[in-house]
Amino acid sequence: MPLTGLSVLITGAKGGLGGYVTEAFLAAGARVTGVSRSIGARDFPHERFSACPAEITSLEAAEALVDTVSAKAGRIDALVHLIGGYAGGHPLETSPPAELDRMIELNLGTAFWMVRAVLPRMRAQRGGRILAIGSKAGDEPAPGSALYAASKAALISLIRSTAAELAGSGVTANLVLPGTLDTPANRAASPTADPSKWTDPRQVAELLVFLAGRGAAQINGARIPVCADET
Ligand SMILES: NC(=O)c1ccc[n+]([C@@H]2O[C@H](COP(=O)([O-])OP(=O)(O)OC[C@H]3O[C@@H](n4cnc5c(N)ncnc54)[C@H](OP(=O)(O)O)[C@@H]3O)[C@@H](O)[C@H]2O)c1
Repeated sequence: MPLTGLSVLITGAKGGLGGYVTEAFLAAGARVTGVSRSIGARDFPHERFSACPAEITSLEAAEALVDTVSAKAGRIDALVHLIGGYAGGHPLETSPPAELDRMIELNLGTAFWMVRAVLPRMRAQRGGRILAIGSKAGDEPAPGSALYAASKAALISLIRSTAAELAGSGVTANLVLPGTLDTPANRAASPTADPSKWTDPRQVAELLVFLAGRGAAQINGARIPVCADET
């Protein structure tokens, strides 16, 4: 169990990807604190799982969460930031203005607040892993989701800038960029699509476990696509 003894904070732990990621970190031996607005202990019945329901809408909310988790768990060795969301299916000229605020807050703002809140503690302990989920779309824009792609591109830049600032600190920051994930929500939204071409969330989860482990200590500033079969 490669992550035995490590304390991992997973935001968005209850989502379509989050379920796989939380199970994978528990299977790897980590102590996991899972965050979402509606999460509870019943979602992951396991002796090393703690639920911490919270809504991340500001730096203050993120700092309060990090304080609570640090007090309970003693330390945070890895932040796995999965909160994020999609908007699209229409060209830029018909995108509603409110979509800009929503995409920036959800995909960039929550990451900024969480990373800003957790970094002082990781720097002080001279070790830690920050892992965020971008998207293939943030690296290779496609038609129909300009604001989503732009917000994920900004997230990629935020994490890579952070990584550059962390050189030599013992803390690293990396991104995983999935294509369309094979989740129940995506299957329901695209009933005629072929899910075998989509990204298997278990592969994303296993990669995140590896990046949180001791064998990835020298990987910093990476953005790793996981979408080999999607055209
Ligand atoms: N699905 C895809 O095809 C795909 C593809 C590429 C990248 N991604 C990225 O992968 C990540 C996970 O996607 P997903 O499909 O698992 O999304 P999801 O099913 O919508 O899960 C999002 C999670 O975040 C929580 N959440 C949302 N806003 C929150 C907030 N302000 N504070 C606290 N918790 C909040 C939600 O739970 P509550 O409602 O209980 O709060 C849920 O647990 C996202 O960053 C997404 O952009 C997804």
